[in-house]
Amino acid sequence: MCGIIGYIGKRNAKEILLSGLKRLEYRGYDSSGIATINDNHISCTKSVGNISKLEKKLKKKSLPGHIGIAHTRWATHGAPLLKNTHPHFDQSREIAVAHNGIIENYDYLRKKLFKKGVRFLSDTDTEVLAHLISQYYKGNLSDAVRSALKLIEGTYGIAVICCKNPNEIVAAKKGSPLIVAVGKNEMFVASDIAATLRHTKKIIHLENDEMVVMRRNSFDIKTIHNKSVTKKIEEVSWNIDMIEKGGFEHFMLKEIHEQPESITNSMRGRIDEKHSTSKLGGLLVFEDKLKDIEKIVITACGTSWHAGLIGEYMIEDIARIPVEVEYASEFRYRNPILNKQTLVIAISQSGETADTLAAIHEAKTKNATIMGICNAVGSSISRESHGGIYLHAGPEIGVASTKAFTSQVTVLLLLALHLGRMRNTSKKRAKSILKELKTIPSKIKAILKEENSFKKIANLYSNKNNFLYLGRGYNFPTALEGALKLKEISYIHAEGYPAAEMKHGPIALIDKDMPIVVIATSDNVYDKILSNIEEIKARNGKVIAVANKGDKKIKKLADHTIYIPKTIDVLNPFLTVIPLQLLAYFIAVKRGCNIDQPRNLAKSVTVE
Ligand code: F6R
Repeated sequence: MCGIIGYIGKRNAKEILLSGLKRLEYRGYDSSGIATINDNHISCTKSVGNISKLEKKLKKKSLPGHIGIAHTRWATHGAPLLKNTHPHFDQSREIAVAHNGIIENYDYLRKKLFKKGVRFLSDTDTEVLAHLISQYYKGNLSDAVRSALKLIEGTYGIAVICCKNPNEIVAAKKGSPLIVAVGKNEMFVASDIAATLRHTKKIIHLENDEMVVMRRNSFDIKTIHNKSVTKKIEEVSWNIDMIEKGGFEHFMLKEIHEQPESITNSMRGRIDEKHSTSKLGGLLVFEDKLKDIEKIVITACGTSWHAGLIGEYMIEDIARIPVEVEYASEFRYRNPILNKQTLVIAISQSGETADTLAAIHEAKTKNATIMGICNAVGSSISRESHGGIYLHAGPEIGVASTKAFTSQVTVLLLLALHLGRMRNTSKKRAKSILKELKTIPSKIKAILKEENSFKKIANLYSNKNNFLYLGRGYNFPTALEGALKLKEISYIHAEGYPAAEMKHGPIALIDKDMPIVVIATSDNVYDKILSNIEEIKARNGKVIAVANKGDKKIKKLADHTIYIPKTIDVLNPFLTVIPLQLLAYFIAVKRGCNIDQPRNLAKSVTVE
């Protein structure tokens, strides 16, 4: 995710901000910028790409001052271009803002400001905030920030400076992390302790709706409703490495734990309660075409392909449109049958996968409409698609995809509802799905709390050479994903199968040394999966079952039962995949594997 650091003190702000930005690099970013105040004037330097490029520019530019703000951006609104890089300014360039989060009503505010004569220089949601603060500014920066924030819907962690108030930084938080770090004759604000730890271990965690006014030797924290709050200064004991990973041992584990939040971010601002549907701004360009599509082809690779398979089940179930799911590497070479009434959906976390990109090119030559579902804003696939939906999952650092997968499934569900409501899906059904979808983040939190019991199971089986993963219906693609996670990070051979296919071949493999993970939620194929478990047990296989809380039948049959909360069939993949991600993770840890960078794998596969 984006990173923020602000500094006020006696030292050279530029140096401190630059070193702070370097500490935030691990979070992933596509551009960065620094703004400082000197002689009642704000100077700013920005750069797209690596921070070393910003550093190079700064060598040629002095950027003096003892107060400033800086930002690493991970694009959400607008491609990673210089004009979209933070800090952003008001028209007079007297106010500069660095912002993390998403302003949901930015389009509405932007239009309102435009009517008042404001002209925008970027495509970002953040720039709206700089102009709004300026509109309210009458000499007191915190008052202006407070008034502007009252109009904002969405999430923010912000740091604001104004050259007419050169002795203070105003910062505020709602939904995006922000801490204040207290030094000797100097103060810092940052989205992450990693950025300030070199300078001080004394920190204050800001809560939602809190705002701080920082001066060199003092600070005031109030709510955005102007009520004073007393905060405790805490002493951090972590080292820098622990902090970058949020206290987790690996990025993969951190990202698994981030899923309640990343799924919420993928849904944010996209649910239309009134009409029980979803609002997907990136599809407006071909909204009319969506009414006429006769077939959907989903194309992707790896984990994204598994998300696509779940998408197929969801779209066919909810919207009743025929869907095919194709490996991009096959699709690109097999002269697929497409026409103007075909919608091709390309799913890619990185947005740069060579095979998926080539599949888009093939589909374009056949006049299909292309929709991209990507995490990386401004990536090649998002640029080459006719329209699309971003995941807003935040950067994924671990090579094995986890939070991007559940965000892909979130977006595909929102798409299925959108297409369904344009056709025959009843308001009642859509409403009940949306209602249940909102409970998913808290249900995932409940599963994550049980991770120690998954670890115990993982430790028992970490020395095995083969695993089978079985599931039916919505749980079949999850079985494939569970097997892929295990293969890629633990190097154990694992296969996913539709449970009933077992008797057509894989059953020959089953003996006392074969662990079989069976996803057995209480759904429409529950009785069938019980029979499959009986078949495994008759051959002495070891069953690790993923079942719904309170299921006693499974407990009697399986060797180990992982309980998860109950949800509706269509949402099962969100919950069933979590224990499978954790099982793979703990097995790989026990085997001493390189979790975040498994051998032979790359985060972005840009070669064929
Ligand atoms: C598995 C994994 C890969 C990717 C695949 C596609 O954990 O990360 O299988 O899913 O390489 O990558 P994207 O989604 O970037 O197109």
